[in-house]
Amino acid sequence: MARRKKIYEGKAKILYEGPEPGTLVQYFKDDATAFNAQKHDVIEGKGVLNNRLSEFFMAGLNDIGVPTHFIRRINMREQLIRQVEIIPLEVVVRNRAAGSMSKRLGIPEGQVLPRPVVEFYYKDDKLGDPLVTEEHIAAFGWAGQQDMDDMVALALRVNDFLSGVFMGVGIRLVDFKIEIGRVWDNDFHRLIIADEISPDSCRLWDIETGQKLDKDVFRQDLGNLADAYTELARRLGVLPKNA
Ligand code: C5P
Repeated sequence: MARRKKIYEGKAKILYEGPEPGTLVQYFKDDATAFNAQKHDVIEGKGVLNNRLSEFFMAGLNDIGVPTHFIRRINMREQLIRQVEIIPLEVVVRNRAAGSMSKRLGIPEGQVLPRPVVEFYYKDDKLGDPLVTEEHIAAFGWAGQQDMDDMVALALRVNDFLSGVFMGVGIRLVDFKIEIGRVWDNDFHRLIIADEISPDSCRLWDIETGQKLDKDVFRQDLGNLADAYTELARRLGVLPKNA
């Protein structure tokens, strides 16, 4: 039997042509990369966990009326998604300083920010996904003002939803990244959440112990990444407690 047509292969996922027009199949690989792919490893089981976790978050968002590309999970590693026109920006929301913000601005890791801060990064591996301003986005035509306003509004709704979900299981949402796409209806478009929402793209700290349950475990060699993701999935009820 012929294999499906591959549309795109990224560092952690592959997109295949979907069964119906306007759909794609998103396959989650076990590859983990960090520092713009300078660090790479294969973590057995990561793809299966992220497929389940991204399903959990995206389906939860769909349920509360925040539109996402997620349609349904197909199997252990694949989900059916809506095809979108990806906006070439990574949208990061931060509740506490960490990572590149701490480095760039000298704000201590863990410091609470006066309000959630939304940032845009231009998606370009060769450039290392640089931070950009709304001026850059408008000037280079990556998105119009309405899209930018809608992206900020969507990102803050996702922040509220995720913060609450994690708070309920004793985890602090420090920051996260989402990607957003356009879905066209003749000359009009609307924005929906695309890509994935998983511990690969969030910073998650245990409220009591500060233990990290996200990709920093891999970036900073803090232990076994699959164990951290399994613990997260158990807490969220995505996996049974004894899995
Ligand atoms: O590295 P930085 O502090 O800017 O990352 C902010 C958040 O965005 C982190 O949760 C990180 O995991 C996520 N991120 C991502 N993909 C990138 C860059 C950052 O998921 N390419």
